[in-house]
Amino acid sequence: MICTHAAGQLRRSDAGSTVVLAGWVARRRDHGGVTFIDLRDAHGRVQVVLRDLDIAGSLRAEWCVLVTGEVRERPAGSENPNLPTGEVEVVAVTLEVLSESAELPFPIEGFDEITSAVDERTRWRYRYLDLRREGPARALRTRAKVTSIMRRVMEANGFLDIETPYLTRSTPEGARDFLVPVRLQPGHWYALPQSPQLFKQLLMVSGLERYYQIARCFRDEDSRADRTPEFTQLDIELSFLDEEDIFGLGEELIASIWREVLDVELPTPFARMSYADAMRRFGSDRPDTRFGLELVDLTALVAGTEFRVFQAEHVGALVVPGGASYSRKELDGWQDWAKSRGAKGIAYLLLDEAGEARGTITRLEEDTLKAIPDAVGASPGDAVFFAAGGRREALELLGALRIAVAKQRGLIPEDRWDFLWVTEFPMFEPISADNVAVGESEQGWTAVHHPFTAPVPADEADFHKRPGEVLSRAYDLVLNGMELGGGSIRIHRAEVQQRVFDTIGLSREEAESKFGFLLEAFQYGPPPHGGIAFGLDRIAAIVAGTDAIREVMAFPKSSSGGDPLTGAPTPITPKQRLEAGIDKAPEQQ
Ligand code: AMO
Repeated sequence: MICTHAAGQLRRSDAGSTVVLAGWVARRRDHGGVTFIDLRDAHGRVQVVLRDLDIAGSLRAEWCVLVTGEVRERPAGSENPNLPTGEVEVVAVTLEVLSESAELPFPIEGFDEITSAVDERTRWRYRYLDLRREGPARALRTRAKVTSIMRRVMEANGFLDIETPYLTRSTPEGARDFLVPVRLQPGHWYALPQSPQLFKQLLMVSGLERYYQIARCFRDEDSRADRTPEFTQLDIELSFLDEEDIFGLGEELIASIWREVLDVELPTPFARMSYADAMRRFGSDRPDTRFGLELVDLTALVAGTEFRVFQAEHVGALVVPGGASYSRKELDGWQDWAKSRGAKGIAYLLLDEAGEARGTITRLEEDTLKAIPDAVGASPGDAVFFAAGGRREALELLGALRIAVAKQRGLIPEDRWDFLWVTEFPMFEPISADNVAVGESEQGWTAVHHPFTAPVPADEADFHKRPGEVLSRAYDLVLNGMELGGGSIRIHRAEVQQRVFDTIGLSREEAESKFGFLLEAFQYGPPPHGGIAFGLDRIAAIVAGTDAIREVMAFPKSSSGGDPLTGAPTPITPKQRLEAGIDKAPEQQ
């Protein structure tokens, strides 16, 4: 090491020591003949006093320097209680400039919180400078701590860390694949794994019993705050288990992270809720249970109505306390909001203080109209919103409205950690424009999770006869309305697996060509097994105090796609295209 101490770790007890420090010039202040710099390294910063050193005047922000000097207590009254090193300063004897810095694209000092006035593209473009700032660097440190706790807990539970291939073939997570051409076999392509799903199941066939991996996953889907094309999972699989093993392990993992990073003791076991209840009460399969505003089912109450809007499979309502004071403009705003989500609009009723109702459903039969406030639990001064249509669409619209209203009216308590296991997902759903896989027809059924998920025992014998009603042994871990992890108990019997393929219309040939290697392995005594994958980026982001997962990635892609730092993706050269078999050589054409 060329230095003797870390700048940020000097304390009063170091006073009198001669030290050699290396780091960056964070700030420079000149005070009549004396220059002060804040010297920053990975551990923090310390004040350095430069007297009679010619170089002092030419130092600039972010130059990298080596300082030799003596630590002394600061003169009484000039201590800085906001700085861990604030009781001392270093009186420099020599200062060597190790390297100079060009003009900075944005100031490093002065905004230490994670996000800042600088736009995202610029931050990612100069991420190496962004990470000189305390907040962003702290987010990466938090992530490293999360990863280390995960490894420790997994190993303490007897799990083996095993790597699986990145150059492989399509995995069944349902997003689009990123593809890699292969020079040695022109015209053939690897797919990057959307998850290690099939490999971890193979490791169970191997009898390794307990696998884990901090695995990178690749999914070609649109980015969001909590979703990027390349992300990391804590991926887990084990044999001879049931759901309780997964829930217990998940709770131990999460509770350890919250305890060690946030000093928060989480109550365990976490709450559980079936998918059916989550949809019925909250209109979401990842309900935010930190606040009430539960949905009300009015389908039975309005059955037989002449009012066209309510002649639907499902009619549901959401009460907005105090919502009768919504202005015309605000109500129009909610219509636009509903339309932006693909609904025709959203019906409403405003109950004034006298209990009189106005709104868009007043043509409903009088008796029914009168019965609504009681049925939905609304009081004078409240608004009631209604969604009518297909059951799932109506519930999802109200579920999204519930979140939007709660955000708008400040009803979400910020200091709660509401963990929830959502269980008993449907096994199949009708194929629709939303979930149709590339090249599939828009008819029939598809697996909600993936086709290796087991049905609940009660449905195992005849699920193929009534795919729309069957429940699976899939589960998600949800926190405050965010999905942190998901998994399932898998099918391990060939006959059950075949019926799932038949139900989703996957012919033997297709199943063979997609997952033949797994099906073959399953001929050799596969154990009952199951697993889960946790979104490591999501967990790290939350405990780092942000909901943007890019903040806990060292070199993230921008939300519009692409990597502003390296400029990737880039076009490739004609030679590379030829080698990869994308283009044919002229003599082959
Ligand atoms: P799933 O697809 O539910 O399950 O993914 C598991 C968890 O990974 C996180 N996640 C993401 N994080 C960031 N960006 C993304 N694009 C993204 N997609 C998913 C979420 C999610 O809960 N093989 C199964 C697991 C299993 O069955 O064992 C799987 O991948 O937090």
